[in-house]
Amino acid sequence: IKNIGVFTSGGDAPGMNAAIRAVVRSAIYYGINVTGIRRGYEGMINGEFFAMDRKSVSNIIQRGGTILKTARSEQFRTPEGRKLAYDQLKKHGVDALVAIGGDGTFTGAHIFGEEFDIPVVGLPGTIDNDLLGTDFTIGYDTAINTVIDAVDKIRDTAESHDRVFIVEVMGRDSGLIALRTGIASGAEAIVIPESKTNIDALCERLEHGRKDKLSKIVIVAEGDDVGGAFEIGRHVKERFPHYDTRVSILGHIQRGGRPSCMDRVLASRVGVAAVEALKDGHRNEMIGVIHNEISYTPFEHACKHNVEINPNFLKLVEILAI
Ligand code: F6P
Repeated sequence: IKNIGVFTSGGDAPGMNAAIRAVVRSAIYYGINVTGIRRGYEGMINGEFFAMDRKSVSNIIQRGGTILKTARSEQFRTPEGRKLAYDQLKKHGVDALVAIGGDGTFTGAHIFGEEFDIPVVGLPGTIDNDLLGTDFTIGYDTAINTVIDAVDKIRDTAESHDRVFIVEVMGRDSGLIALRTGIASGAEAIVIPESKTNIDALCERLEHGRKDKLSKIVIVAEGDDVGGAFEIGRHVKERFPHYDTRVSILGHIQRGGRPSCMDRVLASRVGVAAVEALKDGHRNEMIGVIHNEISYTPFEHACKHNVEINPNFLKLVEILAI
């Protein structure tokens, strides 16, 4: 391998820059050239390529977002779009790829790697943590810390006003952000898509919880089966008109900010491992970390989307909210 192309795709995640840095620096370490590709698959199709060196990744390990920019590409979903992308890679002498992103990115990478003779490996970069083949994804740790910071602040005002707050967090169709942040912020209840929501049971939990504590926090994953925080808020208001209920959607603040130490270290480890994997002949695999060891998971397994929820976590919330 002489020239590795690196790109970020899909939703950005804190730590993506640390991953880019690790790919660039380790490639240089091993005597391989690196080409940066801007705006993910879209930029690949449009030929947005540039040579990267040691200095192009200076002073980025601590920055959120992605210096390579990102996009979700409709064109790459078509065989014609993928052929254009391949032609651009050939034209620029790129002979291997490191894709940094989530399930959409790897679904594309999987098809591309099978259609064309180009080794592709992936790094798990998404705040959602919804990939198999890694204990954690790059960006998840920072995002959950951003959430608990925000919920701590909401709790202050909830407490002052004796209010019920229904707080919606991201995660697409995964409840993993809600699950951990619910525990860590001391929420009264968590609503996640992985377990069926029983509105009556939820209301009961709020009503029969501590009588001396009128402020309550419910963390809702955006992909829940009720229809989001506003819908849950509506049910709670209907059932308990005497509660002063507010809804707060945290939104895209969860995607930004300085990556945490955990995300920087994870990104650095898998970034170096990706370059080493390509050198060793790996292809069509996501590089993750399982039980603190580097792991290699075929793309089609990584994006299977059935990361299991530990039921003990939900029980924890119930036990600790008494
Ligand atoms: O996959 C990351 C994520 O932030 C999800 O949690 C969320 O559902 C989605 O991206 C939002 O996407 P966009 O920024 O395109 O609205």
